Amino acid sequence: MSPSERRLSAASQLAGLNFLANGVVLVDSDGRVAYMNQAAEQLFDQSLKAQLGLRFSRLFTNDFAIDSLLADVTGRAVEQKRQDISLERIAREPLNLHVLALAVEHNLGAVLLEFSEVFQRDKVVREEHMADLAAANKELVRNLAHEIKNPLGGIRGAAQLLQDELDSPNLREYTQVIIKESDRLQALVDRLLAPHRRAHVVNDVNIHEVCERVRSVLLAQYPQDLVFVRDYDASLPELKGDREQLIQVVLNLVSNAAQAMHGKGQIRLRTRVERQITIARKRHKLALVLHVQDNGPGVPAEIKERVFLPLVSGREGGSGLGLSLVQTFVQQHGGMIDFESIPGHTDFRIVMPLP
Ligand SMILES: Nc1ncnc2c1ncn2[C@@H]1O[C@H](COP(=O)(O)OP(=O)(O)OP(=O)(O)O)[C@@H](O)[C@H]1O
Ligand SMILES: [Mg+2]
Repeated sequence: MSPSERRLSAASQLAGLNFLANGVVLVDSDGRVAYMNQAAEQLFDQSLKAQLGLRFSRLFTNDFAIDSLLADVTGRAVEQKRQDISLERIAREPLNLHVLALAVEHNLGAVLLEFSEVFQRDKVVREEHMADLAAANKELVRNLAHEIKNPLGGIRGAAQLLQDELDSPNLREYTQVIIKESDRLQALVDRLLAPHRRAHVVNDVNIHEVCERVRSVLLAQYPQDLVFVRDYDASLPELKGDREQLIQVVLNLVSNAAQAMHGKGQIRLRTRVERQITIARKRHKLALVLHVQDNGPGVPAEIKERVFLPLVSGREGGSGLGLSLVQTFVQQHGGMIDFESIPGHTDFRIVMPLP
């Protein structure tokens, strides 16, 4: 293969790396650039075309930082090495990054360098940890709900039979308590199991139509002092998703806002399109961003870290399932949800990939 053919086949073999948010550079045993993904091109403000075959370290005034890292890995002192690194450039801010250098057996290169921004790495680790925790929690709750569901039917049935045999109204009061509480528990258990029972149906969904539906429901519920502000981006394309689930998502968020404000206050629904967004380490060209904002008292500080976990509620009479359900549905749409909250301003943000 000629060098240019080799490069061509390299580019197509490695094209998948363009989906990564982290910068990836492949260098040969002399430290010359064999490949850069798009994120690396952006990060170093260089193009693969211009850098191909040039020593990567010469982009930086402290070239020894990269060279010594490469020497460690190509010399096989170690198979891989992680470190924080500061890369200095003429007349520009230094780049403070975390780098993973990996010795690779590839016909094109000897070392793969992956760069991530330091703060982003911490954030990703934290988010992954929270996501694992939330998933484990949901699994636990779901299993528990299953375990409760079966005997519950038996308890209720037995109480019913017993009641039919009882003549004294006083004693019947007791069986009534058993039946009523069993029904309440049954309803709770059903809600816990609900998101996993129904299939996820995919259709074209107009998010503004969803928002309008929810708005009219809430206005009927709180006709007095609830004010909606709609800040819609009309250019937003339709999204592929489950309409019923998305209605539930927006309804839960808007209901929480209305409940926190006791029906008195302002709710802003804001939509935007965003480009080149990373969700759970996956890059998307186009995404929908939906904000549900209110000017209520804010999420109570003591539950802020846990609001997405099931059964966490800061509200009298709340079951703490709303946000857990919202998170599950958003994740089923390949999206993510987060929020910011201070007294007077709470902002729940959903990001979902668009086709
Ligand atoms: N916009 C908001 N403003 C203030 N607090 C909020 C807001 N949204 C959520 N919260 C807090 O987060 C808690 C959890 O919300 P979540 O929807 O999961 O459960 P819930 O509303 O208590 O009960 P459920 O939705 O199951 O009826 C709420 O009880 C409330 O304390
Ligand atoms: Mg709720």
